[in-house]
Amino acid sequence: MQEPSHPHIRQVVFSKEEIASRVEELGTRITEDYAERVAAGEGLSLVCILRGAALFMADLARAIQLPLEIDYMTVSSYGDQAVSSGEITIKKDLDGSVEGRHVILVEDIIDTGLTLRSLRHHLLAAAPRSIEIASLLQKDTDVPAAVDCAYLGFTCPDGFIVGYGLDYAERYRNLPYVGILDPKIYEAEQA
Ligand code: IMP
Ligand code: MG
Repeated sequence: MQEPSHPHIRQVVFSKEEIASRVEELGTRITEDYAERVAAGEGLSLVCILRGAALFMADLARAIQLPLEIDYMTVSSYGDQAVSSGEITIKKDLDGSVEGRHVILVEDIIDTGLTLRSLRHHLLAAAPRSIEIASLLQKDTDVPAAVDCAYLGFTCPDGFIVGYGLDYAERYRNLPYVGILDPKIYEAEQA
């Protein structure tokens, strides 16, 4: 495992190179899975969950060789806390319509899955043709997630994860790799 290059990172879990090659693979799979339906005139929309999934979305969209639309939503779940509240608030809804379209929800990380379960439920009201989930990461926890992820990048350890879009209190999003945040950082701030 590569050495952390930031003093607050305890361990690099997935390097820039590992992420790039995995995102390419996911893009290829999505291309294969949706090619026929898109050729038949059915639309494909990627819905990025801001802000954590923005970097993943930008790379994934370029790895999909099909015409598609991109939209964004903002939901709040954790706030600046390191533990899930299980409640979400929609802060920014879709700008465009996904009615009759195939939607892929693009998320940074699944922990309990409660955020995506609520979001999926909310989106059903917009009458898409289908909804699937693409998440860069899913935490390796004892409790099964509340949603199924069709396109998963990696399973990651159950620590607090930052980098490649993921933050702790809005920091570390621009790290090019995914790493485990040193617990001292949030323990100090929550004390
Ligand atoms: P869930 O509802 O428990 O699945 O939590 C998912 C949401 O919490 C994601 O949208 C993430 O933004 C955030 N989240 C969960 N775990 C982490 C983490 O380790 N680092 C950064 N954000 C996280
Ligand atoms: Mg998030």
